[in-house]
Amino acid sequence: MKKIKAVILGYGDRSSRYAEYAKLVPQELEIIGVIDISELKLKQAQAKFDLPNGSLYANLDAFLQANVACDVVINGTMDQLHYVTTMALLERGYNILLEKPITANPQELLDIREKAREKGCKVVVCHVLRYTPFYSTIKKILDEGKLGKIVNMQLNEHVWHGHFVNSYVRGKWRSEKECGSGLLLAKCCHDTDLMCWLNNATVPAKVSSFGSKSLFCEKNAPEGATQYCYQCPHQKDCMFDAYKFELEKDFIPFYTWMGIEKPLDEITVEEKKEFLKKDVYGQCVYKTDMDIVDRQCVSVEFANGSIGTLNMVGGASKAGRYIHVICEYGEIVGYIEENKITVREFDKKDVWYHESVIDFSEQNDLSKEDNSVGGHYGGDFYIMQDLVRYLNGEKTSVSTTVIEDSVNSHLICYAAEKARKEHVVVDISKEYGNQ
Ligand SMILES: NC(=O)c1ccc[n+]([C@@H]2O[C@H](COP(=O)([O-])OP(=O)(O)OC[C@H]3O[C@@H](n4cnc5c(N)ncnc54)[C@H](O)[C@@H]3O)[C@@H](O)[C@H]2O)c1
Repeated sequence: MKKIKAVILGYGDRSSRYAEYAKLVPQELEIIGVIDISELKLKQAQAKFDLPNGSLYANLDAFLQANVACDVVINGTMDQLHYVTTMALLERGYNILLEKPITANPQELLDIREKAREKGCKVVVCHVLRYTPFYSTIKKILDEGKLGKIVNMQLNEHVWHGHFVNSYVRGKWRSEKECGSGLLLAKCCHDTDLMCWLNNATVPAKVSSFGSKSLFCEKNAPEGATQYCYQCPHQKDCMFDAYKFELEKDFIPFYTWMGIEKPLDEITVEEKKEFLKKDVYGQCVYKTDMDIVDRQCVSVEFANGSIGTLNMVGGASKAGRYIHVICEYGEIVGYIEENKITVREFDKKDVWYHESVIDFSEQNDLSKEDNSVGGHYGGDFYIMQDLVRYLNGEKTSVSTTVIEDSVNSHLICYAAEKARKEHVVVDISKEYGNQ
């Protein structure tokens, strides 16, 4: 198998995790260049991958002018840059590993798909959950066919309050205006992708949705609360106080302190305290400029009559994704935090069912490890393993995503947002004319 040469566009949190594969399996992947507007990021990548100065690019144009030959570009820029950067790379014939969401705009989504087809480029979207043993086993069991066709899918995603506040109330995904994506697209295009992938004998046809921002809003702020926590009379009693929540607990430091633009281990406590006096990370959770919902439900009717529902809750006590797929002759149910699934199959003679449990915690070592590609229950590692095989033209796993597979999941998100905002049922093919 040929060693894959990759260039990274945007050496942020996500790309650096995928790039870790080059350290773990150097015979399969090599990072040969990095493009980033941040000097700090370029320096960090240079040190990590031992890159010469000539393979660091301060922007995408500089890279394109250099005519670099590589097998793939890992596009880990933020959501609002995906379209323009991906189109420029496709125009020049590069294969791309593209972070989700592809884009928030339906026409742009179809443009990217068309451009990839026209140029014959491979675009793999980072639907990392598909690659976990948990979901890929569910897919394999469904594809075996013994449970029959899918009748109903119930998916729930509960976002733990530490994660929700850090990323969606104070963090860089809090504003659809700025980031381009609403909560459903940013957080749950994974879940709509799972629905479409598991049920890919058919396509989504109609969508309805409800949801709002009702928790993290001004009306719930305690009386007299101030914009910044450091001035607030409720600081001591408030569980979301920025000094307790962001500084002491420091749940997701690589997001919180990003604005300080220094290596994390060089940032002092004093610098952090000062930062919280002026950055949104120091603001009251009920008063930030968050413009996205904090709960949403989505119902989907597929063209063959099967149906699916997705419930997203932001600010739950415990994080977790639940799935329950009910088929003609049985069902599969699982909670990914427990890393096991239960499969029930009708016993047609006995009019009862047989039940078996598959526990992945023993086999999925990566999800337990504290290494940077072990994220997403091992999905961050397995997607890279699959990508290398895909680019080599070898047999890939059941999880392989191509751009065509990602379109429907995104259309569900766009349709759900329209349905939620306009209180209508959206017919996907009438609305987006997808083919
Ligand atoms: N697959 C998943 O489960 C998952 C999880 C989290 C985030 N994401 C998505 O991954 C993407 C990246 O998120 P992240 O948290 O790693 O972001 P990040 O902010 O950590 O990284 C983005 C990088 O892009 C660089 N950059 C900004 N503008 C640039 C430009 N014009 N040209 C080149 N580089 C530029 C930044 O300096 C930064 O290093 C987002 O789209 C996000 O929604 C996906």
